[in-house]
Amino acid sequence: MFKPKLNIALFFGGRSAEHEVSLLSARSIYQAFNQEKYNIFPVAISKKGFFSTLEESKKILMGDEKKVPEIKRDNILPQEVLQFLEKKVDIVFPVLHGPYGEDGKIQGFLDTLNIKYIGCDLTSSAVGMDKAVMKQIFSFYNIPQSEFEILKKDEYNKLKTADLFADFAESLGLPFFIKPANMGSSIGISRVGNLTSFENALNQAFKYDKKIILESSIKGREVESAVLGTGNNIKVSTAGEIISTHDFYDYQAKYEDQSTELIIPADISSASQEKIKELSLKAFKAVGAEGISRLDFFVNEEQDQILVNEINTMPGFTKFSMYPLLFKESGITYTELLDDLVELALKRKS
Ligand SMILES: Nc1ncnc2c1ncn2[C@@H]1O[C@H](COP(=O)(O)OP(=O)(O)O)[C@@H](O)[C@H]1O
Ligand SMILES: [Mg+2]
Repeated sequence: MFKPKLNIALFFGGRSAEHEVSLLSARSIYQAFNQEKYNIFPVAISKKGFFSTLEESKKILMGDEKKVPEIKRDNILPQEVLQFLEKKVDIVFPVLHGPYGEDGKIQGFLDTLNIKYIGCDLTSSAVGMDKAVMKQIFSFYNIPQSEFEILKKDEYNKLKTADLFADFAESLGLPFFIKPANMGSSIGISRVGNLTSFENALNQAFKYDKKIILESSIKGREVESAVLGTGNNIKVSTAGEIISTHDFYDYQAKYEDQSTELIIPADISSASQEKIKELSLKAFKAVGAEGISRLDFFVNEEQDQILVNEINTMPGFTKFSMYPLLFKESGITYTELLDDLVELALKRKS
């Protein structure tokens, strides 16, 4: 039977510091989509939030630029793109990482326009992106995680740094981690061992957000699982491990250092694998995630400890990224994953 092709818009780039990562994910996705089933329309968004025309967007995606070039134009959203979204698009795939893409803002914008999209909805995206809110929700559901504190910039300005450091050193132990609440790809994250590094770390983290979190440092292997599905039909992949030669899994280790290794499946006991599956599902449901997410853990088998580090509602999606590689291990190809995500988006009730 003849089935008309679905029109899918691939949003990529965007306003976050993870703009460059989004380009890499979107390029892989564009190539892998089954062209017999879908017409794919790339839609580039610059770091300033300007939408490119469809023709410009396609050129940018097919090229090898690291960023979407800034365009001098009066309107942020060209009429042509708006009409295309309104009249032609069946589904948007927001391949955007970090703030303004993974945090519910673009999802809310699409909801307002009554356009279906792949992945988590507004609330689950926002909860997954904000590490402070995420940890509060995890805590409500008794999901095991590191100890944490939350600090807002306006509160911090009123306090003495040395006193604050002493308080956190006592409640969290040394060293501890400092992170912007809303960010990803390890941007703005530091490990703090003394007062000087504390001051630098605060400045770094507050560059990206007016709210930061502080966490006790966990000794454990970094293990991740991939989740696909909605409601009562959710698949959790076998977990894989990341082995980085860096101090911690920082931006360079994630995207630039060739020596970072992904071990799939992770070399852990089957009991740990089971526990990770169970916690993945619990954490996915706790934030109300839909469609797609990657769950990250710290595993310390000697201490019999598995802690959830975070949920990523739009995980890296290049051919070499953990999310698709984990499902490949479970026999689901990259192209099949995309088909499943489209199906889930079509079925979602608004
Ligand atoms: N509490 C912690 N204990 C030990 N390592 C941590 C802790 N928090 C973060 N890290 C290290 O920093 C990396 C990035 O932190 P994460 O919270 O995952 O932020 P992002 O959202 O940027 O990926 C982790 O993959 C891990 O290597
Ligand atoms: Mg992470």
